[in-house]
Amino acid sequence: MTVDTSTPAGTSTAPATDVLSVQNVSAAYGPYRALFDVSFRVPEGGVVALVGSNGAGKSTIARTVTGLVTATSGRVVFAGQDVTQLPAFKIARLGMAHVVEGRGVFSTLTVEENLTLAFRQRAGRAKLKENLERAYTAFPILGERRRQVGGTLSGGQQRLLSLAKVLVVPSRVLVADELSLGLAPVVVDQVYEGLREINGNGTALVVVEQQVHRVLELATWAVVLNHGRVAYEGEPSGASREMEALMSRREEALATGAEEAEKEAERGAEKSGNPERVAGHVAGGPQTPGA
Ligand SMILES: Nc1ncnc2c1ncn2[C@@H]1O[C@H](COP(=O)(O)OP(=O)(O)O)[C@@H](O)[C@H]1O
Ligand SMILES: [Mg+2]
Repeated sequence: MTVDTSTPAGTSTAPATDVLSVQNVSAAYGPYRALFDVSFRVPEGGVVALVGSNGAGKSTIARTVTGLVTATSGRVVFAGQDVTQLPAFKIARLGMAHVVEGRGVFSTLTVEENLTLAFRQRAGRAKLKENLERAYTAFPILGERRRQVGGTLSGGQQRLLSLAKVLVVPSRVLVADELSLGLAPVVVDQVYEGLREINGNGTALVVVEQQVHRVLELATWAVVLNHGRVAYEGEPSGASREMEALMSRREEALATGAEEAEKEAERGAEKSGNPERVAGHVAGGPQTPGA
């Protein structure tokens, strides 16, 4: 399949190459290290699946490349520019869209108000009407519910709304975080149709999912994360095998109680901060406030 890359906003005449490159990135939440030396590349117009179990660091990567979290080391290069230290709004202006985990819609605003806000922010007042029509054509259910407030939409409809917000203003890269989580299969189909359409318009995708099946059908490349590290990078077909292997190792380890101990030892050796915070966090046990 060839993808027409001629349309995205901000596209320069640079030769077709990687639109995004994550180079040896580590990231942390305070003393808690969430990413360790993560590297992968996203070719212009490509679809990279970023998979891994809950807590593997997928959302942290999404936040790091979009500028919501700043890498503690390594580099993020987007559209030929080092954006490692740039704030999220500047990275967004360069053509990076982020559909965050969860719903990402304003629950007290109507569908139309949600879209209007997003389009004005991303494209100014120009072509507002036309863009709304495009969104309603791509997702008819949103047109039917244009006067309904976001908070009363179903989970699936809210996810479609957050996709529609980025659909009409072409980006160079869209980072979509767990769009299908908790959705009925038929709604997942709609979400993936939306992603295909966005990709067909020349936007490269980084699709974060816990469930590997759907995303690996769409992806041209896959990255499997485990405990904040890249466990696999390569053809999508190899990723499901890797995920299965990880899951069965995890089950085994959980059965013997070895995994948490191993994880803590690993983190304890590498992190630079307060050991109690890390141990408490990883073990998921009750944390003493203050201290
Ligand atoms: N805001 C935060 N503050 C502290 N720790 C966090 C925060 N967000 C995520 N983490 C921790 O970082 C690790 C990676 O989380 P995350 O990137 O959300 O994983 P995933 O998206 O793969 O489920 C987890 O151990 C998680 O508990
Ligand atoms: Mg996540």
